[in-house]
Amino acid sequence: DWSMAAFRDAKIAEIRAQVGDGKVICGLSGGVDSSVVAVLLHEAIGDQLTCVFVDTGLLRMNEAQQVVELFRGHYNIPLIHRDASELFMGKLAGVTDPEQKRKIIGGLFIDVFQEEAGKIGDAQFLAQGTLYPDVIESVSFSGGPSVTIKSHHNVGGLPEKMNLKLVEPLRELFKDEVRNLGRELGLPDAFVDRHPFPGPGLAIRIPGAVSTEAADILRKADAIYLEEIRNAGLYDSIWQAFAVLLPVKTVGVMGDARTYDHVLALRAVTSVDGMTADSYPFDHGFLSRVATRIINEVRGINRVVYDVTSKPPGTIEWE
Ligand code: XMP
Repeated sequence: DWSMAAFRDAKIAEIRAQVGDGKVICGLSGGVDSSVVAVLLHEAIGDQLTCVFVDTGLLRMNEAQQVVELFRGHYNIPLIHRDASELFMGKLAGVTDPEQKRKIIGGLFIDVFQEEAGKIGDAQFLAQGTLYPDVIESVSFSGGPSVTIKSHHNVGGLPEKMNLKLVEPLRELFKDEVRNLGRELGLPDAFVDRHPFPGPGLAIRIPGAVSTEAADILRKADAIYLEEIRNAGLYDSIWQAFAVLLPVKTVGVMGDARTYDHVLALRAVTSVDGMTADSYPFDHGFLSRVATRIINEVRGINRVVYDVTSKPPGTIEWE
C-alpha cells in the first residue's frame, strides 16, 4: 500500500526529528498498537529505543513468550521483560469487585513500569500507541488535549511523574489503519489481525476472586477454544472470542465417577467497534466439539455453556 509506505516514511522522519539522539521507552503489552509503535520506533531510531514488557500473569497461553520471541528474538529490540505475576496475583487475592480489580491492576502496572523504566536511566521520551479514537475520547471527557487513556497499557500520569515527553506516532490513525501500518512494517498477519484483548486481561474473565490456579485452568480452555476457531477458519469473521471461568461448580459424571467442577462460558461476538455486538452464531456441532475437548483435556471444568447475549444489553466481557 503506497500511502501506508509514505505514512511510515513520514513518521520515521518525524520521530527522528522529535527524538534526536534521545532515549525512548515504550511499554509493550503484546497488543497490536504498542507492537506497531515499537517496530516503527525501532526502524526510526534503532537501539535508542528500549521496550518494557510487564507480565501480569493475566495473559493468555504462551503470550509472554511470544512477545519476547518476536521483539527480542526476531526484531532484536532491547527489551526488559519483568515477570510480575506473583505481585499481581498477591494484590488481587480475595478481591471480587470488577472495578476494584481494574484499579489494582492499573495501579500496579504503572508502579512496575515506572520501576523498570527507571532502570534504563536518562530516557527523555515515552512512546505510546494512542489512536485517534483515544484522542477524541480523552478530549471530550477531560475538556483538554491532555491524553489520559483508560487502558492501563497507556501509562497515564507517568510522563509528568518521570518528566518524559510523549511520542505518539499513531495519533492520527484508526485501528484498521494501524493494522495496515503493522503489515507495512513486516509484522506477521497472524499477529496484526489478532482479536482485541483487554488491559486487565484474564482477571476480568474470572468473575469474582482471581487466583493462579483459576488463571491456569482458563488459559488451557481458552487456548483450545481459539485453536478450534482457527481450525474451523472462523477467526477472522469474529471480533473477539474468549472463555470465561465461572466461580460456579456443578455436578457431572466422568467414567463411573461423580465430578464437581467449574462451569466455563464461551463468548464470541461480531462487532464493528466494540460499542455494540452480536453473539456469533456457531453451529451446534462446533460448540459440542469444543465442549467435549475442553472437558476431556482441562482438569477442573466439567460443563461448558455458550453466551448468546447481545451488547446491549450485555457487555462483551463478563466484568
Ligand atoms: P465491554 O465488555 O465493555 O468491552 O463490552 C468492550 C471492549 O473493550 C474491552 N475492554 C477493556 N479494554 N481495559 C481495556 O483495555 C478494560 O478495562 C476493558 N474492559 C473491556 C473488551 O475486551 C471489548 O473489546
